[in-house]
Amino acid sequence: RSVFQSPLLGAVRGSIVTVKWRGKPVFVRRRTADDIKLANSVDVSSLRDPQVDSDRVKNPEWLVVVGVCTHLGCIPLPNAGDFGGWFCPCHGSHYDVSGRIRKGPAPFNLEVPQYSFLEKNKLLIG
Ligand code: FES
Repeated sequence: RSVFQSPLLGAVRGSIVTVKWRGKPVFVRRRTADDIKLANSVDVSSLRDPQVDSDRVKNPEWLVVVGVCTHLGCIPLPNAGDFGGWFCPCHGSHYDVSGRIRKGPAPFNLEVPQYSFLEKNKLLIG
């Protein structure tokens, strides 16, 4: 278990911070109102790994996902790809603002680790 604190949770809306947890990157994205709207505007039944956005976040403003592509384990790039989320340059997987796989070979959404908010500026992962 690791505790991450400010400036992480003081991040401006729209910013993404990468922290290291158990040797893996974890992306923490403070989402904008538009991001949240976009994440909820998807026809979930059309998704490869169908999950509603609200099942992937504790607070819609914050997305916390393991930054490891579910295809073969590369690290996806933020703010890239066709769906406003991440793009994995290894074989071209596109993830959306909820970290869900939308296009490319990856079979699953980016994993959501166990986490909780301890207080305003502290996030406990694990
Ligand atoms: Fe990401 Fe293959 S490892 S697309």
